[in-house]
Amino acid sequence: MTFDPLVIRKDFPIFDRKIRDGKRLVYLDSGATSQKPSVVIDAESNFYRNHNAAAHRGAHQLAEEATEALESARSVVADFLGGATDEIVFTKHSTEALNLLAYSIGDSPAGNVFHLKAGDEVVVSEMEHHANLIPWQQLAKRTGAVLKWFEVTPDGRLDLSDIESVITSRTKIVALTHQSNVLGTINPLAELVKRTHDVGAIFILDACQSVPHMPVSVAALDIDFLVFSGHKSVGPTGVGVLWGRASLLAELPPFLFGGSMIENVTMLDATWAPAPRKFEPGVPNMAQIVGLGVALNYLTKIGMQEIHNHENTITKYAISKLREIEKLKIIGPTDMKLRGGAVSFTLGEIHPHDLGQFLDNSGIAVRTGHHCAWPLTRKMGVAATTRASFYLYNTLEDIDDLADGVRDAQKYFA
Ligand code: ALA
Repeated sequence: MTFDPLVIRKDFPIFDRKIRDGKRLVYLDSGATSQKPSVVIDAESNFYRNHNAAAHRGAHQLAEEATEALESARSVVADFLGGATDEIVFTKHSTEALNLLAYSIGDSPAGNVFHLKAGDEVVVSEMEHHANLIPWQQLAKRTGAVLKWFEVTPDGRLDLSDIESVITSRTKIVALTHQSNVLGTINPLAELVKRTHDVGAIFILDACQSVPHMPVSVAALDIDFLVFSGHKSVGPTGVGVLWGRASLLAELPPFLFGGSMIENVTMLDATWAPAPRKFEPGVPNMAQIVGLGVALNYLTKIGMQEIHNHENTITKYAISKLREIEKLKIIGPTDMKLRGGAVSFTLGEIHPHDLGQFLDNSGIAVRTGHHCAWPLTRKMGVAATTRASFYLYNTLEDIDDLADGVRDAQKYFA
């Protein structure tokens, strides 16, 4: 099948509506959340209409069907990432998945592979969004571990010049983003994962901005844990994924406690079901999980490499068009090497919030602010940026509209 964003757009009902008094929707905010194809919306609705029951909890036909639907979605996610089915844990979102890891690691007793003691080191980077920074800050405070980080270079790359003094023999955890939600930078993981494993530490990948946009194989990357969110991957809100190596999930203590995550319970104690169940207490977000399975099948049918190639074309075009605009400064890499489809920029003295509102009047949706990555925007020397982020349904016409809108804003605010 030839990749054609105009055909793909027909799968997404939101593109049928008009914005701001009849304008075409130019949606350039997929880094925040993606739009949903009809197959995903229908799958959620179909679950509630025809199969709704509490998965893993009933002896009746509907409960069987709900369990089957949930577990089929787990297999889809496992196949999508190249992992095993029992390595997939469903959470409410990737933020919960990262908190799960940070809390469970913090609860690991002495002798456990994850146990952290005062003086052990946890490594992040200045490029992290808050969801992959604050849980580790708080873990360091609770345990006395030392938080260290890779700095970001002026052109928006991780500074790996001193990798050996950042990841050391005291490092226990390295938690890094695959692709920056602000700069679009894709990080060179091979070197980082190798150094992490050479010192005996665990590598956690925040793949929120990569799994929806490029082929990602947990086996090929040789990482230990990965998180991503459903809603950024044309799936529903309310579902995130934690993938972990089976041997590590077996060692990791649970984070949330309650029904269906147990093996045995007495009045004074409990033992845990094997992973992934021990991390999934409470009735799961079944309809959303089912919708995520359909979303990933939809992406697979189109082809993750084709999606990535398309985004590269769009991003290259966007960078070249935006660079023609006087006083516009791209914050992040301007070459296409290891770069994904998020482009942040400033426009002279015009505040990004004003620019965002101006663009919105023309039906152009962008994100403005610090993008939940405040230390990074500070490091790049800006209070805020305007960010355009792209996906499979964006066209070159969307980019032309963005560039025209930015030029119009410049005249308006002059
Ligand atoms: N982290 C998401 C973003 O970049 C919400 O917009």
